[in-house]
Amino acid sequence: IKSANGLLSLDLEASAQSVSLNGKNANLLTYNQQLPGPQLEAKPGDTVQIQFTNRLNQPTNLHFHGLHIPLTGTGDNVFLEISPGESHTYEFQIPEDHPAGTFWYHPHYHGLVAKQLFAGLAGLFIVRGALDDIPEVKAAQETALVLKDLALDRRGNIPNPGHMAQMTGRIGDLLLANGQLNPEITVAQGELLRLRLLNASPSRFFQLSLEEHSLFLIATDGGAIAAPVELNNLVLAPGERAEVLIRATQTSGQYRLLNTPFNPAQGMMGGGMMGGGGMMGGPSSQKRTETVATLAYSGTTTETLLPTALLPIEPLPEPYIVRQFTLNHGHGMVFLINGQVFDHNRVDTQVSLGTIEDWEIINTGTMAHPFHVHVNKFQAISRNGQTDPYAAWKDVVSVNPGERVRIRMAFQDYTGKTVYHCHVLDHEDRGMMGILDIQ
Ligand code: C2O
Ligand code: CU
Ligand code: CU
Repeated sequence: IKSANGLLSLDLEASAQSVSLNGKNANLLTYNQQLPGPQLEAKPGDTVQIQFTNRLNQPTNLHFHGLHIPLTGTGDNVFLEISPGESHTYEFQIPEDHPAGTFWYHPHYHGLVAKQLFAGLAGLFIVRGALDDIPEVKAAQETALVLKDLALDRRGNIPNPGHMAQMTGRIGDLLLANGQLNPEITVAQGELLRLRLLNASPSRFFQLSLEEHSLFLIATDGGAIAAPVELNNLVLAPGERAEVLIRATQTSGQYRLLNTPFNPAQGMMGGGMMGGGGMMGGPSSQKRTETVATLAYSGTTTETLLPTALLPIEPLPEPYIVRQFTLNHGHGMVFLINGQVFDHNRVDTQVSLGTIEDWEIINTGTMAHPFHVHVNKFQAISRNGQTDPYAAWKDVVSVNPGERVRIRMAFQDYTGKTVYHCHVLDHEDRGMMGILDIQ
């Protein structure tokens, strides 16, 4: 659904729905009866109006992950509770200087986020702009893939996560791309392919590679990087996005986009906490390399050219203050930031509008925690003191056990309260979230 004449207006309804998954019945939660939810597209300066109705039997709300928009009133308000049967209109403007990129929307009602996301509530929110106007990027065939895992019992219902799955984060053995198992993507001859990728899983990491092809990274969470970076594989933590270009090879044929089990706590192929099978899916979940989608090239290919430069990333000035955030779990299945579980009535971090801050995220626990900040994107500065290989705008950064990651952020444009949290959403629901107040 695209904006027209500067306005993106739609009705969006969350409801329980029975969906056909490659012929098998699945009882899920959907936006507008679609899996994933409708793909929304707007441009900088556009007004967005979403008339949202909750047809679930539980409270919910909407969060526009990664968008730089007001965090009060009818903008991105994660403290809102929309009860069953209630409606709410979200209305905000995308700033004129908003970067182009791959953003998304999902529920953010504390305590139910992992459950609602796992059941299917998520959709892309694409902002088009300067990145899309780079000639080689513009000429590429564009395909978006929303990746998520799912677990189903024999009747097509999502089983209740066990004790362990709530600790490690619920994981399913079915890997869906755009709500399908291994869809085929047809690529016209000689085309450069632009893949927009979103990891919409509540806790599964994806490690993607494409048979016989490199992936050329052109954008991360917050939009374009300065120049394409060639990768053999791409790791996406929950909530992360990336855009890659893929050059056609000389022959037509089928190439599988593969997911190789990734265990951030133990390295690849690990059988540790994240990789332990049998939590929700079959006992083999996470153990094998699996096909996520298949790219089908047809005809002979011509030479496709990559852009040499994309969009410059200005480094942020030195910070006004450095803060530390220590991540760990506590007794009784709770997850902590600086020793505390989330409390609605507490402000954890008070910042001044117009300042620049460095945050050091320190993981003293045993599981990886993808750290996410709402509304204000950041640059990752260093990991265990090592400077990041290239500058990028991010809003999720995975912090592995024993790591210390420094991010730099400018608090601009909007005052009010919002949150930062772990994007393993079972961890978020169990307390790994804090309130940020910008004044
Ligand atoms: Cu993807 Cu607090 O969100
Ligand atoms: Cu978010
Ligand atoms: Cu976590």
